[in-house]
Amino acid sequence: MNYFQGLNEEELKKKVDDILNEVHEIAKKTNTYTGFTIANTKKHSSTSTPYFPPIRETNHIICGNIIVYTEELAKKVAEYVDGRVDYILVDAEKKILPSEYGENDAGNIELAVFLNTKQSKILTFKANDLTANAVDTLISYSYSPIGGKKIAIIGAGNIGTKVALTLLERGAKIRLYRRDKEKLKSITKALNLIKPSGTISEAEYFDTIEETCFDTDIIIGCTPGIPVISKDCINNMRYGGIIIDIGKGSVSKDVISYAKQKNIKVIREDVRAGFDGIINSIFSTKNLIENDMGEREIDGIMVASGGIMAEEGYIIVDNYKNPTRVVGVSNGEGDFKRELSDEEKQKLKTIEQVIQTKKNGGREKVEKDIYKQTYDAKENQKEEGDLFNIKDKVIVVTGGIGRLGTELSVTLLNHGANVIIVDSDYTKLKEKGEELEKIYGKRCYCLECDISKKDQIEKLKEIILEKFNKLDVLINCAGVGVYTPFEERTEEELDYVINVNIKGTLNCSKILGEIMKNQKKGHIINIGSIYGMVSSDKKIYGDSKRNNSEIYSMTKAGIIMLTKYLAAHWAPYNIQVNCISPGGIINEKKIDREEYKEFVERYNKKNFLNRMGKTSDFKGIILYLVSDASSYMTGSNIVIDGGFTAW
Ligand SMILES: NC(=O)c1ccc[n+]([C@@H]2O[C@H](COP(=O)([O-])OP(=O)(O)OC[C@H]3O[C@@H](n4cnc5c(N)ncnc54)[C@H](O)[C@@H]3O)[C@@H](O)[C@H]2O)c1
Repeated sequence: MNYFQGLNEEELKKKVDDILNEVHEIAKKTNTYTGFTIANTKKHSSTSTPYFPPIRETNHIICGNIIVYTEELAKKVAEYVDGRVDYILVDAEKKILPSEYGENDAGNIELAVFLNTKQSKILTFKANDLTANAVDTLISYSYSPIGGKKIAIIGAGNIGTKVALTLLERGAKIRLYRRDKEKLKSITKALNLIKPSGTISEAEYFDTIEETCFDTDIIIGCTPGIPVISKDCINNMRYGGIIIDIGKGSVSKDVISYAKQKNIKVIREDVRAGFDGIINSIFSTKNLIENDMGEREIDGIMVASGGIMAEEGYIIVDNYKNPTRVVGVSNGEGDFKRELSDEEKQKLKTIEQVIQTKKNGGREKVEKDIYKQTYDAKENQKEEGDLFNIKDKVIVVTGGIGRLGTELSVTLLNHGANVIIVDSDYTKLKEKGEELEKIYGKRCYCLECDISKKDQIEKLKEIILEKFNKLDVLINCAGVGVYTPFEERTEEELDYVINVNIKGTLNCSKILGEIMKNQKKGHIINIGSIYGMVSSDKKIYGDSKRNNSEIYSMTKAGIIMLTKYLAAHWAPYNIQVNCISPGGIINEKKIDREEYKEFVERYNKKNFLNRMGKTSDFKGIILYLVSDASSYMTGSNIVIDGGFTAW
C-alpha cells in the first residue's frame, strides 16, 4: 500500500520538518506549547495526497496539522513527530471505513497514534465537533436571536445533525435533507425526541433540496465536495439570507455569483474558532484537574474546589490551594446546601475571614488579633510547603542509574519533576530504566550517554531542547574511582578517572549550562565527596581492596572548586551552582563479605552517627537544592557525612 498517498516517505518527512520548524519558531516567540494534530477523513481517493491544513495558533499551543486517509499513515506521522512537539492531538472520531482498507487497517487512527507515541503527550479531540461548534458559534454570534429562524441543513450526516441539534436547541426551525430517506426520517424523529421538552420549534424533513430551502433565513451546506445548492434554492430564500458552506464545495461557482447578485451572502466555514474553543477547553480542563481539583484543611475546616465530589459540610471555594472566594457549603451530592446550620455558617465565616486576611496582606493587622494570628501562621506554613514544589521542572541526572543517581532520580520523579536519566551503562539502563519509564511515563526519560565524550553531551543537549525546550537543573552525579595502590597507578587509570570526573562534569556543565545561560536561570548540582576535602584514612580500609585513590580525591577536590568557580562566573546568568559531598554510602549487596563488614565497622567508629550513609539520606538535600527553597544558595559545598569530617 502507498501509505503516503502520492508523496514518497522523504517528501512527507520534509513537509512535516518544514511545518515543525515553523511551529517551533512561532512557539518560541509566543512562549507556547508546540503540537501536531492528526485528523482523519473518509474523503479519500487514490490520487489524494495527505492534506496539511494551515498552522493553527491558539493562546496555549501552536499546531502543525495533517489529515490522513489511512491508519498506517497516522502511525508513520505519529512516530515521526513524537518527541518533537509537546502534544500530539489526535482526532478521536473514526471516519476511515474499514471496508476500504481491509482487515489490517481498521482506520482507528486514535489507537494508532496512542500505540506509536512514546514521548509527546497525547490529547484527543473530535474534528466534527470542532466544525459543528464553529458553525453554531458563528450563527449565534452573527444572526441572533435564532429563535423562530428557518434554517435548512442540506446533508444531514454526522456534522449536519450535530449542527441541527444545537440550532434546534436555540429555537430555530430546522429543515433537513439527505438522500437516504429512511435515515432522514429517523434522524428528524430523533432530533425532536432529544430536544429539550420546553423547546417549541421542531425539525422537519423534505423530499427535495429546493423544498428544504424554501423561505429559509440560513442554508447550511454539509455535502462534502458535492455542489447541491441550486439557483432555485436562492430564489426562494428570505430577504438577506445567508448560505454557510461547511462541506467545502456544496455550492458551485455559478451559484455563488448568482447569490451575490441576489444579495445573499455565501460564507465558507472557518474552523479556527472551533479549534480555539476546543483547545482552550482542553487546557482549562487540564488546569482544573491539575490545579483546582482537590481538598485540604484550612484552620481545621475542610475546603474543596474544582468539581471534586466534596463530602457534606465541606466549604466549596474557587481554588482549594489559594482560595480567594467562598462559593458555598457542599451537600455531599454535588450541589450546595440551601439552608445552613449555625456550625456551617460559622465555618463559612472563618474561611471568609482567612481569605480576607490574606487579601489585606494582613500579618501586621493579624498580629493584633491572637486568634487570627494562629490560623495565619498555619496558612503561611502551607504556603511555605510550596517552596519545595518541583512539579514540571526538567532535571538531568548523570550517572542517574547508579546507586545514588537512582535514589535522586526517583525522589525527584515522585515529587512531580521530569527527569532525564543519563548513564553510560546500557545494561542497567535497559533493566532499571525501562521499568522507571513504565512507572513514571513521559516524565521519565532514560538515555545512554557517556559523559567523557563531548559529542554525546552535545547530542544530549539537542534532545533536551527538542523534548523539553528547557533545563532547570543539572545534577552531575556520574563518577568513577580506581582502587589500586598509588604506587601502581597507570596512565590508563588516570585518564579514566579524569575523563569522567573532571572532563565529564566540566563538559556537562559547560554544554548543558548553555541552555541555562540562554534561559537566564538554572541550577547545577555537583556530587563531590568527603575525599575531595580530607584524605582517606588507610587504617579503616585495611585489606578491603577498596582503598580510596589519590586521583579520585584529586578529581573530587576539583569538582568542589569547579562549583565555586562556576557559581561566581555564572551568577550574572542567574545560575546557581552547589555541591553535595557525601560521606561513604553503604553498599548493601556487599555486606555479607567479611572484609567489607570489617571495613564498615571501622568506618562507623570514625563517624558521630556510628553508621555509613544510605542513599535515602540524600533525598532531603536534593529536594532542597532543586527547589526554590535554596534560592539564596550558591557556591556551597554541603557535606552530608554523619560528622565524618567534623573532627
Ligand atoms: N558511594 C559512595 O560511597 C560515594 C561517596 C561519596 C561520593 N560519591 C559520588 O556519588 C556519585 C554516585 O556514586 P554511586 O555510589 O551511586 O556510584 P555508582 O557506581 O553506583 O553510580 C555511578 C554511575 O555513573 C555512571 N557512569 C560512570 N561513568 C560514566 C560516564 N562516562 N558517563 C555516564 N555515566 C557514567 C555509572 O554507569 C553508574 O551508573 C559519584 O560521583 C561518586 O563519586 C559516592
